[in-house]
Amino acid sequence: MNKISPSMLAADFNCLEQEIKKVENAGADMLHIDVMDGHFVPNISFGQPVVSSIRKKTDMFFDVHLMISDPLKYAPEFIDCGADLICFHIESDSDPLKVIELVKSRGKKVAMSIKPKTDPEVIKPFIPMLDMVLVMTVEPGFGGQSFMHDMMPKVEKIRKWADQMNPALWVQVDGGINAQTAKIAVDAGANVLVAGTFLFKTDNVKEQIDMLKKL
Ligand code: DX5
Ligand code: ZN
Repeated sequence: MNKISPSMLAADFNCLEQEIKKVENAGADMLHIDVMDGHFVPNISFGQPVVSSIRKKTDMFFDVHLMISDPLKYAPEFIDCGADLICFHIESDSDPLKVIELVKSRGKKVAMSIKPKTDPEVIKPFIPMLDMVLVMTVEPGFGGQSFMHDMMPKVEKIRKWADQMNPALWVQVDGGINAQTAKIAVDAGANVLVAGTFLFKTDNVKEQIDMLKKL
């Protein structure tokens, strides 16, 4: 079964606790938390205070996607705020090996993400060390964009490398995921699906999560 990680970016920030409970009770496996610094991506979302506030309200697994220039500096703070997994970008300014070591030394899961224009070869050497690879299926920065079908060869390649080097690796896709695009991504080898708009702007979140899990 696929794991489902609803992206909180699409939640109603006026009532985050209720919004999180809604996806938690509907069977989501984790909560995707998009942190943006207005520098690595042209948008600012939320930071440490929000993550530590929601940590007090749920036991959900926190999948923290850092779209920030300096993950080495901030990863420890997000771990202190309750992150269970730190996902950082290979295109960031930090030394990837140092970020991986730091997150592992704190006993948390570590993931690396690649933007649409980045060659997947750059991530290959890190695959044995990672818990997850996130293949962005939109340019990071905003929710509600259209799925980039041309990212599927990248997903296939990473799944193939994972089978050779790290079969337990999760392959996550993020951006424009809905019933149709999720099926395409799963067929290409993804097994962790992030969805913001599709799961937060709906009246039948339970049915949609069940459906995504079973694809
Ligand atoms: C985009 C974020 C995504 C975003 C996905 O930069 O990383 O997690 O919230 O939103 P949807 O599912 O609406 O495309
Ligand atoms: Zn994300």
